[in-house]
Amino acid sequence: MWVDSAEALGSDLHLELAGTGSRRAALMAALRDAIRGGRLAPGTRLPPYRSLAADLGLARNTVADAYAELVAEGWLTARQGSGTRVAPRADPPPPSRRADRAKPLKPAKLTQHTKPPGEGGVRRAPARPTEPVHNLLQGRPDAASFPRAAWLASARRALTAAPNEAFGPGDPHGRPELRRALADYLARVRGVRTDAGRIVVCSGYAHALRLLAGTGALRGRAAVEAYGLGFHRSLLAAAGVRTVPLPLDADGARTEELGSHPGVRTVLLTPAHQFPTGGPLHARRRAAAVDWARARGGLVLEDDYDGEFRYDRRPVGAVQGLDPDHVLYVGSVSKSLSPALRLGWMVLPDRLVDEVLAVKGDREGWVSALDQLTLADFIESGGYDRHIRRMRQRYRRRRDQLVAMLAAHAPHIRVSGVAAGLHAVLELPRGTERSAVRAAAWQGLALEGLADYRHPDAEGPHRDGLVVGYATPPDHSFAGALDALCRALPPDLAGPADSADSADSADSAGSADSAGSADSAGSAGPPPPAATRPPAATKPPAARRPPSGSPRAT
Ligand SMILES: Cc1ncc(COP(=O)(O)O)c(C=O)c1O
Repeated sequence: MWVDSAEALGSDLHLELAGTGSRRAALMAALRDAIRGGRLAPGTRLPPYRSLAADLGLARNTVADAYAELVAEGWLTARQGSGTRVAPRADPPPPSRRADRAKPLKPAKLTQHTKPPGEGGVRRAPARPTEPVHNLLQGRPDAASFPRAAWLASARRALTAAPNEAFGPGDPHGRPELRRALADYLARVRGVRTDAGRIVVCSGYAHALRLLAGTGALRGRAAVEAYGLGFHRSLLAAAGVRTVPLPLDADGARTEELGSHPGVRTVLLTPAHQFPTGGPLHARRRAAAVDWARARGGLVLEDDYDGEFRYDRRPVGAVQGLDPDHVLYVGSVSKSLSPALRLGWMVLPDRLVDEVLAVKGDREGWVSALDQLTLADFIESGGYDRHIRRMRQRYRRRRDQLVAMLAAHAPHIRVSGVAAGLHAVLELPRGTERSAVRAAAWQGLALEGLADYRHPDAEGPHRDGLVVGYATPPDHSFAGALDALCRALPPDLAGPADSADSADSADSAGSADSAGSADSAGSAGPPPPAATRPPAATKPPAARRPPSGSPRAT
């Protein structure tokens, strides 16, 4: 069949789809043939999925999957903005220093293979791609959903209404318009008790940590959750703050153990949605943290990084509402809008306001006053609420798709934590995390394992798991990312009995001992997929029971 996409291709292309078998496999074989035979020269741009699908009478997903797989095999390359192209014939150069540093794909390991799997090796095939095709790294909202028009409208209104003094050097406290809007918003949505005077605008949680590290509040030692962002721990370490890990269980951080760390006066918590494991902090543990802070003259630092995104019920209010004098609340727009804005807020106990402002300094506003005014308008005009509601629906749908994919194709894998936020943790059978992350890289899928988040001094069992940022990919590539994830998951080796046990246990991975844990799993080397299961899209559900009812995320 002649493909009528000569314009997109820049040359005519004859693709003969052989046989009556899988259309995806036939298309892949035809494209490989065309590349091998030289009819598709290196660098040639392939037609968009849509037009090739229309030309060949195939479903768009079939073409998308075939492209993705050929990218993963190294025959094609895909780059945002320049489409899908035939890969260069020569072996790619060694990974750049930048790629060397890129986590977590360790691209150097991805370039080992010179023969694509399934090929006879008649001639040297292109090496594995160094760039991931799919991205499920946590930490980013769906960039395509940034409310550009509504933000622009707020910016226009804010700029028009701004008093002349707003164009001066700025106030380290933050614009009063934004602080007033935040005080109302946080009280209404998160149950935070504050007035505008106790809010200090900053550029996000990381900035808040840096500022606090410069005050007496965070000096010396601080307790943190045993799993959390290494970046935040490093930031504290660089400021001379030593972190002590608090163990986690199904009820969140064991705050009742705070008293056994005499040098600790501050605890950092993610109460609404433990990061990254996903459980909420139990009411008893919230109360224990506040009681400890009162008794010790200490401080609870509440990181409410994704508190607005709860899908199964109304979000639990902030711990700050229990005791505004002993809980310091921090939020930002990094998950709700975009981390690019660098806009956040601290709600401080009265006694800390002047100290934090002193650390901030007189001449540094840190966040553009115009962006602050825009956010104030965005909140007050209802644009922020509308955006959050829209994103809540979108992320909830994504999470449901992830859970449904697991129920259909990997029922032995459990999603831990509550239905909330922009990421989920998939609990893996013991000892399989490292190979699953490598298998994902082999599928061209960027994501991280739980081991990346574990405090180096944490005691107790390692938990094998994958941290899946389901908000990250744009809509059109989410299904492909889920397929790649499905192909990277370890098979169910335990059998039905064991797998049922683990699904029933509240904290099954947490109760595993550390033998054979993520850290002790196999070393690097050629990256065989952890599972040999074919793509979800082309394979019926795994033989073992698909769950009969609704998805089992807890
Ligand atoms: C655990 C956690 N806390 C806080 C944040 C927000 O960080 P920032 O406000 O510095 O962008 C993130 C990332 O968005 C996070 O993952």
